[in-house]
Amino acid sequence: MTDLKNWQLPPKDLFAMGPIVPVLVIENVEDALPIAEALLAADVRVLEVTLRTPSALEVIETIAKALPEAVVGAGTVTNRELLKRSSDAGAKFAISPGLTKDLLKAGNEGDIALIPGISSISELMDGIDYGYDHFKFFPAEASGGVKAIQSIGGPFPNIKFCPTGGININNVNNYLALKNVACCGGSWLVSDKIVKEKDWTQITKLATDAIAHVQDIVTAK
Ligand code: 3PG
Repeated sequence: MTDLKNWQLPPKDLFAMGPIVPVLVIENVEDALPIAEALLAADVRVLEVTLRTPSALEVIETIAKALPEAVVGAGTVTNRELLKRSSDAGAKFAISPGLTKDLLKAGNEGDIALIPGISSISELMDGIDYGYDHFKFFPAEASGGVKAIQSIGGPFPNIKFCPTGGININNVNNYLALKNVACCGGSWLVSDKIVKEKDWTQITKLATDAIAHVQDIVTAK
């Protein structure tokens, strides 16, 4: 267990900032601000920009500089170097699909919150050993979904999750209803098709609909 973390935005606060975290794959830097603005217009502030495109770090930097009201973070942060580059680009948090001990250690030494990904109890226990208590659960649907996360809550009641992978408007409330789920990630608000068509108003519509859809469940918690 370590308590060396010097994170500016603690995961607890991050997870409380919005029930739905859009997972973004952005190829062109010029699309960054229109996409972020379309999400902000629906009150979706926490944005995960995945490091799956060559321009991802520049996208993060662009959003962080131009839109301070957005809480932009990096996704697909799979190692120490990507964590450092994300932080240097202005990311306010980093999310990883899985974990390695070196990444957990780097997260503890860094200045932005790291949300490591897990899909097994043993990985979770490694994360807990390094002082983590907020995790991504990935790939959520393929790894047992709602039932798995609910079961994990038995032995690990203080751990909070942001499940991602196969989540959409039809099943998001099943996840958000769980005590140990604070928010859910998903790519459905900003699909490749929407980005290709530059249909920014559709992003605002999907995000507004999604927020309205989860409102009752979130309020009831
Ligand atoms: C992720 O990186 O978290 C997932 O690719 C998002 O999963 P989804 O595309 O099924 O929403």
